[in-house]
Amino acid sequence: MITLRHIVLVGFMGTGKTAVGRRLADRLDRPFVDTDREIENLYGKTVAQICRRYGEVRFRSEETILVRKLAGRSGLVIATGGSLVLNQENVQVLRENSVFVGLAADADTVYQRIRGKRDRPFVNRGQDLKTRLQQMMAERAGAYGMAELTVDTGTMSPWEAVEKIVSYLNGAGGD
Ligand code: S3P
Repeated sequence: MITLRHIVLVGFMGTGKTAVGRRLADRLDRPFVDTDREIENLYGKTVAQICRRYGEVRFRSEETILVRKLAGRSGLVIATGGSLVLNQENVQVLRENSVFVGLAADADTVYQRIRGKRDRPFVNRGQDLKTRLQQMMAERAGAYGMAELTVDTGTMSPWEAVEKIVSYLNGAGGD
């Protein structure tokens, strides 16, 4: 039986992994999983609340537990939290049966998309948000390098990003 590889969306916060992932899953008639939402549903709390109450280590361990569960399935579209792939263990667990697709956007776009939200605990609100985002983007410059394709969602709609990904996957053997 040909098992369908997962399509794993990776990228910095605010690059549209959830918005594109949902539409991509619909377009390909595949189940969709958002790792942040899965963990939030498990706790009945937001990521920020989980980190405040139980600490970042707990959140990170839940990401790895979830990734191991997902690795045992096939054919999902998975939107990862922006720092999930900073842990190489998570990448290794998924690598065998996944194709990684990167979403990117420039700092201004990311800033505009997240500045009104209070739901990302790792963005230190004590600093100027735009400066902090630029710092984090620089720190993570190579972090999403496992992506076979990277789509700039700052220059296109989620639907256009979906079609770019579908075209790539069709050209790369369908998956
Ligand atoms: C994070 C991004 C968030 C979430 C958590 C950590 C990050 O997900 O997992 O706040 O450090 O980049 P999004 O990429 O969906 O914002």
